[in-house]
Amino acid sequence: MGNLLIFPVTDDCEFLLVNEKGQGSNDGDCATFLATSEKFSEKFGQAVDRLPFIHEDDFLTELQKYLHKNKIKRVFSPVLAVHRFLERASADMLIDVKMATESPLDQQATRYKNLIRKSIKVRQVLDGLGLDAGLAPMELAALIQYVSGIYGESSLEKIGALIGVCASGVKGDVLEIGSLVGKSASVLSYMSARMSVGNFLSIDPWNETAAVQKDSPELVQDLSRGLDYDMLHSLFIVNLMLTNRGHSNYFRRTSEEAFLCYKPSWEVSSLELGKTTYTGQASIIHIDGNHDYEHVRFDIENWGGKLAPGGWIIIDDYLWSHGCGPKVAGDEYLRANLESIEMAFVADKSLFLRFR
Ligand SMILES: C[S@@+](CC[C@H](N)C(=O)[O-])C[C@H]1O[C@@H](n2cnc3c(N)ncnc32)[C@H](O)[C@@H]1O
Repeated sequence: MGNLLIFPVTDDCEFLLVNEKGQGSNDGDCATFLATSEKFSEKFGQAVDRLPFIHEDDFLTELQKYLHKNKIKRVFSPVLAVHRFLERASADMLIDVKMATESPLDQQATRYKNLIRKSIKVRQVLDGLGLDAGLAPMELAALIQYVSGIYGESSLEKIGALIGVCASGVKGDVLEIGSLVGKSASVLSYMSARMSVGNFLSIDPWNETAAVQKDSPELVQDLSRGLDYDMLHSLFIVNLMLTNRGHSNYFRRTSEEAFLCYKPSWEVSSLELGKTTYTGQASIIHIDGNHDYEHVRFDIENWGGKLAPGGWIIIDDYLWSHGCGPKVAGDEYLRANLESIEMAFVADKSLFLRFR
C-alpha cells in the first residue's frame, strides 16, 4: 500500500488515524504522515509537518521533496480544492502518488446515489405491501439517511415496513421492547410524531443478564456477554435526541417489569428526555427484546392485550437463524387470533400483524 500522507490535516482526520500507524513508524510496511499549511505544529499528540499553501510558487517542489524523502505513495486530502489540485498533479505525473480516496464531493455524490437507491427500495417495499410512507421523497430520504447511520440489524425492507405501519397507525402509544442503540426506535420515534400517532416509549434494561438468550446456541449467548451496556444505552439516547419532539422516552427495565407499570396516564421520566405521558393503549408494539420462547410469548400475549383496535404488532426475527422462540410464539398467537387479524405479512424476517 505504501506510506500515507494526510494533507491538510483537519479535526476529522483524528478518526482516520485510528486504523493507520503512527507517523514515521516502521511497524509493518506503512506509516502515516501529517502535514498542513497552517501554523500549528502538533495535532492529536503527533507532530505535523509544514508544507506551503497550494497557491504558493514553491508548493510543488516542496511537496515532491517531502513525498520522496518519506517514501509516500498515497495521499488523503479532506479538502476539496487540495484534493483536486493533487489529483491533477498526479494525472500530469508531477507527483508519483495516488489519491487514497475519491474527492470529498465525489464521496458525497456516491452517498447521495446510494441513498436514492435505498429510497427507491423502500418505496418498492411499501408499494408491494400496499402501504404508504406518508412522507414526500426528500423527507423519506432524510429519514433513511439518518437511520442508516445507526447500528442495527433491521434491513431496509423492515425499515420500510415500519415507516408504512406508522403512517397507517391508529392513535395510541408506540412501544418498542428492545432497542439496543435505537435503529428501529429512531424510525418509530420520528414517524410517531410526524404522523401524530402518539408518544413513543422504548423499553430495554440495557443489561447483560436480561440480554442473554438461553435458547440460543452457547456461542451466540456468549457473544452478548461482556458488552458495555451503559455505553449502548447512552448511544441510544444520542440517537433518539433528534427524532424526539417531546414525545419520546425510555424505561430502563425489562419488558416484564414495564408491563406491571403500564396503565392509562403512565408518566415516564428520564434525565435526558424529561417527562412523557402514555395513554395505556398501544397503536404499535415492536417486539424485539429477548428472543427466548418464554420471553417472546410473554411479550406478545401480555403487551398484545394492550393493543388498540386497528393496532399493529411486529414480532422481530420471526424467521431467525439462532432459535425458534419468535416463530413458535408468533405462530401460536396467529392461530389463536386468526379472527381478529386484518392483515399479516413477513417483511425481511419480521412478522407484522394488524388487528381489526
Ligand atoms: C436485537 S436487540 C434490539 C435491536 C433494535 N430493535 C434495533 O433496531 O437495532 C435486543 C435488545 O433487547 C433488549 N432486551 C433483552 N431482554 C429484554 C427484556 N426482557 N425486555 C426488554 N428488552 C430486552 C436487549 O438489551 C437489546 O438491547
